[in-house]
Amino acid sequence: MATTLLKLTTIFSLFISIFIAFHTQRALSYDADDDEHYILDAPFSSTRLRSRFLASIKKGTHCDPNNNNVCNGVSANNGTSLLNCCKTHCRNVLGDRNNCGLCGSKCGLGELCCGGTCTNVAYNTTNCGKCGKGCLSGLRCQYGFCGYA
Ligand SMILES: *[C@@H]1O[C@H](CO)[C@@H](O)[C@H](O)[C@H]1NC(C)=O
Ligand SMILES: *[C@@H]1O[C@H](CO)[C@@H](O)[C@H](O)[C@H]1NC(C)=O
Repeated sequence: MATTLLKLTTIFSLFISIFIAFHTQRALSYDADDDEHYILDAPFSSTRLRSRFLASIKKGTHCDPNNNNVCNGVSANNGTSLLNCCKTHCRNVLGDRNNCGLCGSKCGLGELCCGGTCTNVAYNTTNCGKCGKGCLSGLRCQYGFCGYA
């Protein structure tokens, strides 16, 4: 009887581990920042880009912090994105897991960058499974899903 119980417990923990691993993986493969272009909130004409009128910036656009810096604290997508020149590429420091809050600040395993803060989306009721996905009141976030406590 005790052995059966032990076996069941082991199988159950194994199942839970696989379940967590699977969903963490899913959360990690989800890039909160997968829009190809950032729509600038205040389009500007860049003299450095031969006076081209700039209304959007493509993800990962080349930039030079000392010269031709097209993304020095530029707000985009109605304030939900903030572009900075990280090393030599334009990054959204509000949604980039590798540059979260500021250039070079990486989020940990199972975390996404939600509004510039590394967030464990497995257990956050306002960012459950992905940034901005809230659970209905009374529901908890468990393994990235809203469910009953
Ligand atoms: C920004 O907000 C305006 C007005 O609410 C909306 O029409 C527009 O689609 C939004 N743009 C983005 C990129 O979310
Ligand atoms: C949920 O995530 C937000 C944004 O990162 C954070 O401010 C808040 O403290 C988190 N809540 C919990 C319960 O961890």
